[in-house]
Amino acid sequence: MTRYWHPFADMATVSRDGELVLRSGSASSVTDVDGIEYLDATAGLWFCAVGHGRTEIAVAAAAQMSRLAAYSTFGDVAPDVTLELAARLVAMSPHPDGSAVLTSGGSDAIDSAVKLVLRHWELLEEPSRTTMVRRSSAYHGMHLGGTALAGIEPNRIHLADSGIRSVQVAWDDADELDRTIRTLGAEQVAAFFCEPVIGAGGVFAPPDGYLQRVQEICRKHGVLLVADEVITGFGRLGEWFASSRFELSPDLITFAKGVTSGYLPLGGIIASPRVMEPFWSTPGHTVWRHGYTYSGHAAAAAAAMANLDLLESEHLLDAGDRLEGALAARLAPLTDHPLVDEVRAGVGALAAIQLDADVLGARPGIGNRVVLSARQHGVLTRLLASGGLQISPPLVMTDHEVDQLAERLTAALDDVV
Ligand SMILES: Cc1ncc(COP(=O)(O)O)c(C=O)c1O
Repeated sequence: MTRYWHPFADMATVSRDGELVLRSGSASSVTDVDGIEYLDATAGLWFCAVGHGRTEIAVAAAAQMSRLAAYSTFGDVAPDVTLELAARLVAMSPHPDGSAVLTSGGSDAIDSAVKLVLRHWELLEEPSRTTMVRRSSAYHGMHLGGTALAGIEPNRIHLADSGIRSVQVAWDDADELDRTIRTLGAEQVAAFFCEPVIGAGGVFAPPDGYLQRVQEICRKHGVLLVADEVITGFGRLGEWFASSRFELSPDLITFAKGVTSGYLPLGGIIASPRVMEPFWSTPGHTVWRHGYTYSGHAAAAAAAMANLDLLESEHLLDAGDRLEGALAARLAPLTDHPLVDEVRAGVGALAAIQLDADVLGARPGIGNRVVLSARQHGVLTRLLASGGLQISPPLVMTDHEVDQLAERLTAALDDVV
């Protein structure tokens, strides 16, 4: 029996039925310990942009580990590669005059953002601005901040009293955001957290004009706009940041996943000059008392640099655009399948094959059966909170593999009907 307690798992079932144990990966495929190969429909957990088995990243990380694996970055010390990465990330962001906070993943980027927002308002002598606005279906990781900001209801349980105040608005209704801020009083509202395209909640692209509207509303009320780009950054929407695609200038951008393609854990925040100002302008004025042992970890930074090199040299941002069209075209016919309600695709290398709500309701467990059937047909995917199958392949997936993906998923659904 396994001794590993898996995240988000029904461990009674896993320990009874066993695990899928993987050994290796190459480009868009992974192989299990029995030698069976699967198409990776989800890029691991949305992260593996450059594909599996890239020795370029392994070599860069190993070289950095041999030189200087890690060092404290508290105060005025840092490894050279950490500073190089920060400069590179900021230069490719909508805030070339901004700065980068580095963390070990998306959840601690979000928690850091929550604390940064609160500290920012304290320094501006508006300490009553403590309420965060979140969206229905939102996923912002599972640390305390992200759990308080969860719009996926089951992810919020046991967190009634986290000390982080937040209110929810409908994910697609900018007017409700405006009304909510007015009702609370803008002087109470600290920030609006927003995934440019909702990921784990079910792959929901923003309605036309929605993101521009929420940016205007936040500006009007002085509320900080936090774009959570943990999924949408680094090519998944055909740009370094989805904010550029949607012409947004968020006050903070959180990122993780694609920054290293998952080769080592790394996340962070791009902070705009507006947020930096009270911290960066007057020496001796203040210290943001926040950071982690592994903030700016050197080996992770080296992996990120090598990953960004690959994204650039292999034109993988363009590949994000190519996959946007290819996935939408090849998956569209699945809409006619009796188990499928709709296929959401067409914004980035992202899609969800939404299973029919009536079928899900009438046949408990059918979603997981589809996932297992896909596995038998050589595709790894998973069920999102909405009851949709996650499709977010590595950006190196070829058009031929997208064809195979669509064929195999159709066969998997046929087997379960
Ligand atoms: C939008 C978003 N924010 C934050 C996170 C949390 O990132 P991590 O799992 O690296 O902590 C995720 C993870 O899926 C995410 O999708």
